[in-house]
Amino acid sequence: MSLPMLRYGRQSIDQDDIDAVIDVLRSDFLTTGPAVEAFERMLCDVTGARESVVCSSGTAALHMMAMALDLSPEDNVVVPSMTFMGTASAMRLTGAEVIFSDVHPKTGLMEAENLEEALRRAGSRRVKVAIPVQLNGWACDMKALNAVAEKHGVTLLEDAAHAIGTTVTENGRNVPVGACTQSKMAIFSFHPVKTITSAEGGAVTTNDSDLAARLRRLRSHGITHRPEEFLERVAAFDASGRPNPWYHEMHEPAPNYRLSDVHCALGLSQLKKLDRLVARRRVLAERYDSALEQLAPVVRPVPHVPSCNPGLHLYAVLIDFEAIGIDRAAVMQLLREQGVGTQVHYIPVHRQPYYRRRYGDLNLPGADAYYARELSLPLFPDMSDSDVNRVVDALAKVVGRVS
Ligand SMILES: Cc1ncc(COP(=O)(O)O)c(C=O)c1O
Repeated sequence: MSLPMLRYGRQSIDQDDIDAVIDVLRSDFLTTGPAVEAFERMLCDVTGARESVVCSSGTAALHMMAMALDLSPEDNVVVPSMTFMGTASAMRLTGAEVIFSDVHPKTGLMEAENLEEALRRAGSRRVKVAIPVQLNGWACDMKALNAVAEKHGVTLLEDAAHAIGTTVTENGRNVPVGACTQSKMAIFSFHPVKTITSAEGGAVTTNDSDLAARLRRLRSHGITHRPEEFLERVAAFDASGRPNPWYHEMHEPAPNYRLSDVHCALGLSQLKKLDRLVARRRVLAERYDSALEQLAPVVRPVPHVPSCNPGLHLYAVLIDFEAIGIDRAAVMQLLREQGVGTQVHYIPVHRQPYYRRRYGDLNLPGADAYYARELSLPLFPDMSDSDVNRVVDALAKVVGRVS
């Protein structure tokens, strides 16, 4: 009997998640109800950020951040090329131009010198924002990046779509990604392959209450129902100074990026299990690390980042396809035939046709080198220890077959 296909990632859903969703379906509020606030409160507890604003996806969160900073066609944003294309697209939706930065060839992470180089390339163009990406769940050196950003008057944001549950050591303390100690805002994604899921969903965290208030308006048509934000005093309040019960104001045009209570209930239920989900991913990753030693040097896990305890979204390895004499498509196919699904994260975004048309051919050797070797192996909490052995055995067969 053939074993079930192992996908590179998938959700882990228990009865308590199902019960939480059913409870909301039986309640008065399917959207804009209490589950939204509850999910946001717990995200603040988990990340240590003062504010969190949940929304319909990680991409929506990125777009809300861009709008909240009033990005416009006169602005430029530094985005690492080794990311999901949504990081760049969300900026382009405001008309801002993207300046792609390079990344470290082995970790795929943007480093301070990559940011410096991108800012040099920008020349006299106004660079308002830079968005390092916490790729695979490993964190960039945000302190070093922030020092560069501050020197150049650039606002530092974080794409932490992969990194809920990651902590870094900062001044001897364990600081969760999303605490925004070195950045203005961070985003998360709760897509099913991520460490926790709300089916679709995302969030922005920040310590800036004014920005959080703006993000809440941008999430929902630019509307506010909060009397302290009303601008039209006469229309808003009755003779005794009470807000009129029907009253609300629209301050700017914005999309509907709300996350429903159904999604929030699932997200909250999953977030309650974050420690367990992260711990299981770490155990599996450690098992991969040691089992893969037999395949070195042609297959190596991406190097660990010092001072980072990752909530791993992906288990990425770098394969020397030239040395094994077989290309990546063939490796993926041979693994698939053995029931092992894999994926490539990512095609460097500067190589996408849209950006090549817009910015020409860029020379980003770090991103190209990472891309040339990367393969994401299956990693999700419901995998068994023996599933890891199965993947490594399958990979050993593929590599051994031709070496
Ligand atoms: C690095 C990164 N940023 C942003 C996103 C967008 O998240 P979503 O799929 O929730 O829109 C993703 C999604 O995979 C991602 O990997």
